[in-house]
Amino acid sequence: MEVERVQAIASLSKCMGTIPTEFIRAENEQPAITTLHGMVLEVPVIDLCEPDEKKLVRAIDQASREWGIFQLVNHDIPTDLISKLQKVGREFFELPQEEKELYAKPPGYQGVEGYGTKLQKEVEGKKGWVDHLFHKIWPPSAIDYQFWPKTPPSYREANEEYAERLRGVVDKLFESLSLGLGLEGHEMKEAAGGDELNYLMKINYYPPCPRPDLALGVVAHTDMSALTILVPNEVQGLQVFKEGHWYDVKYIPNALIIHIGDQIEILSNGIYKGVLHRTTVNKEMTRMSWPVFLEPPLELETGPISKLVNKENPSKYKTKKYKDYVHCKLNKLPQ
Ligand code: SIN
Ligand code: FE2
Repeated sequence: MEVERVQAIASLSKCMGTIPTEFIRAENEQPAITTLHGMVLEVPVIDLCEPDEKKLVRAIDQASREWGIFQLVNHDIPTDLISKLQKVGREFFELPQEEKELYAKPPGYQGVEGYGTKLQKEVEGKKGWVDHLFHKIWPPSAIDYQFWPKTPPSYREANEEYAERLRGVVDKLFESLSLGLGLEGHEMKEAAGGDELNYLMKINYYPPCPRPDLALGVVAHTDMSALTILVPNEVQGLQVFKEGHWYDVKYIPNALIIHIGDQIEILSNGIYKGVLHRTTVNKEMTRMSWPVFLEPPLELETGPISKLVNKENPSKYKTKKYKDYVHCKLNKLPQ
């Protein structure tokens, strides 16, 4: 069956000036009605080059307890490399449709990797204004190159270099999160899978939308992963839910956006909070983002780290295999 891509729907919609009804959100979700306008939320901005280690740990700890999201600057990933990652991703999505379809998820395939459009409708039968490409970028044993675009030719190099540079940032973040909880530096990463931690790259492609007031890119959610490290393009779109309202998150060139995901919330026994977020779309411009989800291996059991569970702080979450967590989350079943 031919799948309709949002990119194709967007071209048609542009001429018509309207969008199909399945993209028109219910009023309680429409961004024009539900965003607190005129307010851009300044989520914590953390300098990874902070020479005072304790100060850095405190900043990451506090942001993860109170916000579940922060922006990382001075992270040591070269600006050119980020630009290269963005350029090759954009070039892939600008290829003729039939070339992109070569990377489509094979029919009946159970994994997440590949080019696609979310098939199942979400809240009240509505769809998100977004296409995507998923593929793992680390560890090497987990990579399946059939899902990596061969065009443009530098796609592979850009993604490999990015994965390599990202590892240092990831280790530093896990270490700071551990220390913030009073654990030893290695404990949090180990509990999330250690060297088996999967780095799953997603590219979100949000084409221009004639009715950005009525549609959403990605519907409100928390990430299933342990941590998510995201590079956005310059088109505003990320929103965070804070104290009862949706706010735009300020775009900071070259910053990495860090989301605390469900798995860190669970491992920390609820001390760190997964952040509820969504994305809006733009009338004239294409928004893109490159989140990398850091995920435990599917067979690994995750639950609150035992040192964080005691009489005063009983376990708030079940311990279960990550694959079972994913299954329940995707099928909206109780955890
Ligand atoms: C997402 O949360 O899935 C996407 C976030 C973004 O595009 O900024
Ligand atoms: Fe997300």
